[in-house]
Parts: sequence; C-alpha cells; structure tokens
Amino acid sequence: MTDSKKIRLAVIGVGTMGSSHVRDIYSLPDTELVAVCDILKERADQYAAQFNATAYYNYIDLLNQAVLDGVVIATPHYDHTPISIDCLHKGIHVLTEKPLAVHVNDGRKMIAAYEKGRAAHPGLVFAIMFQQRTLGFWRKVKAMIDGGELGRLVRSSWIITDWYRTQSYYDNGGWRATWKGEGGGVLLNQCPHNLDLYQWFFGMPRRIAGFAAIGKYHRIEVEDEVTAYFEHENGMVGHFITTTAESPGTNRLEIIGEKGKLVFEDGRLSFWRNAQSMFEFIQTSPNPFDRVDCHDEQVDFELTDQPGHTMVIEAFANAILHGTPPIVQAVEGIHSLALGNGIMLSAFTGKPVEVPFDSDDYEQRLQALIRQSSFQKEVREQEITDLSKSFGYYS
Ligand SMILES: NC(=O)c1ccc[n+]([C@@H]2O[C@H](COP(=O)([O-])OP(=O)(O)OC[C@H]3O[C@@H](n4cnc5c(N)ncnc54)[C@H](O)[C@@H]3O)[C@@H](O)[C@H]2O)c1
Repeated sequence: MTDSKKIRLAVIGVGTMGSSHVRDIYSLPDTELVAVCDILKERADQYAAQFNATAYYNYIDLLNQAVLDGVVIATPHYDHTPISIDCLHKGIHVLTEKPLAVHVNDGRKMIAAYEKGRAAHPGLVFAIMFQQRTLGFWRKVKAMIDGGELGRLVRSSWIITDWYRTQSYYDNGGWRATWKGEGGGVLLNQCPHNLDLYQWFFGMPRRIAGFAAIGKYHRIEVEDEVTAYFEHENGMVGHFITTTAESPGTNRLEIIGEKGKLVFEDGRLSFWRNAQSMFEFIQTSPNPFDRVDCHDEQVDFELTDQPGHTMVIEAFANAILHGTPPIVQAVEGIHSLALGNGIMLSAFTGKPVEVPFDSDDYEQRLQALIRQSSFQKEVREQEITDLSKSFGYYS
C-alpha cells in the first residue's frame, strides 16, 4: 500500500453509530467511503446518495462486489462475529464496534479468523472501537499506574451510573435489550468501554462475583442494574457498580495504591500523594491513629477531541497504510467481554466464578434464555442522529 493511496472503506450497519462513522470516513483525508451496507434498503440508499457511495443491502454482496481495503462494522452485536470472520478470511481489514461479540466463544472464533487471515494476508488489521482509550484523563491514569506512581494497587472502585437510558431508548430498535437480539444489557451495550478500561488499567481479575437485576427499572428482559466484585492475583480488589436508571448519574473511579489515592470524577483527576508507602507506615508508626502524610494535587492531562471515534478511524487507516498500531487491537476486546460474561455467569449461578470460566456454560445459559423468552418487545422506531449525550463523558 502506498502513502498516496486513500483507504477504501465501507460501513456495514448505518444506524445510530454507523451513520456517524460514515461522516467521519467521508471527511477524513486518508479515507474514502466507497460503500454503505444496511439491511434496511432505504437507509443504505439514503447514505449512499448523500455521501456518493454505493449501497448494498447485505454484506456478502458487498464483500463479493465492492473493491475494498477495509470495513467498519456498526451492526447490532451478534452480527459483529460472522461479518468480521468473513472479512478477515478475505483479507479485508476490520474495525468493529464494541462489544467484540456477545459471548466469549464468539469472540474466540473472531480471533481465530484473524490469526488465520493474518497468516495469509500479513499486515491484516483487526481493530475495535474503544474510543474512550483516546481520552486524555484515561491515558493519564494508565500512565500513572504503569509508571508506578501509585505503587502496589490495593483497591479500585468504579461507580459508573451515568449511562442513563429512558424506555424510549430501549423501544427504539427491535434488537435492543432482548437476549435474542442483543444478548445482554448495560454490561454488553454501555459498559464495554468501562470494562475495557478496567482491564487496561488493572489486568484481568482471577475471581468475579456479580449481582444483576433484570429489567428492574425498564421494560426489558436484560440487566439494567449491576454490582460486581473482582479479586486480582496481586491482592487488589475491584468494585464495579453500574445502571442505566440513575439520573443524575455518577462516573467516579477511585484507585488506591500504597503511594496514594487517585480519583477521576466530573472530568477531573485528583491525586492524594502519600509521603511514604502506607504499607511501610502500617509497620513502622508507633502511634495507633497516625496517618500517612499526604498532599493533594490536581493532575493535568492532555485534552483530546471527544468523543474520540474519529481518532480511532484515523488510527485504523494509518494501521493499514503505515503498519502503525490501531488504538485498540480487537483481540483485546475479549477481556471486556469476559468481564461482562463473567459477572452475568456469577449472577446467574449465585456463585463467584474463577477466571477463565467455562465459556460453554455461559453460551448455553444464554441460549436457554433465548429459547425460554416470552418477552414481548414494544418497538417504536425513531431515527437518532444526535449522539452527543450518549457517550457520558466530559468536556
Ligand atoms: N462506540 C460507541 O460509542 C458506540 C455507540 C453506540 C453504538 N455502538 C455500537 O454500534 C453497534 C450498532 O449500534 P446502533 O446504536 O448504531 O444500532 P442501530 O440499531 O441504530 O443501527 C444498527 C444498524 O445496523 C443495521 N443492520 C442490522 N443487521 C445488519 C446486517 N447484518 N448487515 C447490515 N446492516 C445491518 C440496522 O438496519 C441498523 O441500521 C452496536 O454494536 C453498538 O454497541 C457503539
């Protein structure tokens, strides 16, 4: 691939999110929108006409007929799996929306297809849209943890309840919030971003305990309120609290290390820096009620464009053009998927699960929920074009 060439991309699924990707690809200097594909003919036709691209109504025709370098997949989650696999087998670069898949077994099939595709097509790129990884405050948290500024980690507690969604959100789109159409609720739709960041910061826990309420505040058959507890090999514990039913919601991540406390809230990062290790102090202070001296600091971080999707698409194009890494490799998406599935498996069984857990057991339980479902979904379609309030972060 030469530097002067534009990357020829198609967007598969041009609904709420895909239509925004269409605009980005159309406007970026290194990408060319050659096709759009949607099973809703009018939708594909509308975006094809608006952005001077060819419309396709099923992705197999797109892959057989269009001349493409890559695709951006923005269909409902279940379809990320077959579409990614077929593209990767053909050597077509893939940027898939989050979550990687609905369950770990599907995610593994995608990774296997990528490995096979890469053997036949060196340089094949398989990336995932975790745009929150571009945000300055999360990059700073990652750098502080990796740079050892917090020392040994003790606890992280994330209250992420600002994913408020009204019933009209769930009623829009027949696939949403059903086991058959979506395969999960807040953990699979909104929280993949937070679960991805969690594993990026702290790695995977070895044990998960989860509690989930199904349709507690919305007419849906999947989870809308979750509390989870994680135990890590190094002794760190994690708490993860989420819902789509709290307004005003909270997005507070508190990370405690032996050298201090780092808190993200309201778009700010605050650090209480200990003068010495709190573990050393436990052992050496003669006074029973002494505390470690500390001072608080506001932590500066780089301000990046929000919400970050454009940067992920640009990095995807650069990965194809120049071999630079994408923002997030899709194979990393298996971890957030495993966290979400693991929380639900624990909630279903009423017991903690060891990681890695039995992914066949999880898939079978999901299939049983689909078979046994008697949920009657009320669908009220409306076109959503303003996504600005949906991403839940701060300027
Ligand atoms: N990264 C983010 O910030 C973000 C935000 C919203 C949604 N998403 C993800 O994007 C995906 C789509 O979500 P949405 O809210 O845009 O849904 P949506 O229902 O608004 O749009 C999905 C579109 O895909 C089309 N479609 C369905 N199956 C298809 C297929 N097999 N081939 C081609 N088109 C198909 C539908 O007709 C629809 O137009 C989901 O996986 C979701 O998790 C990501």
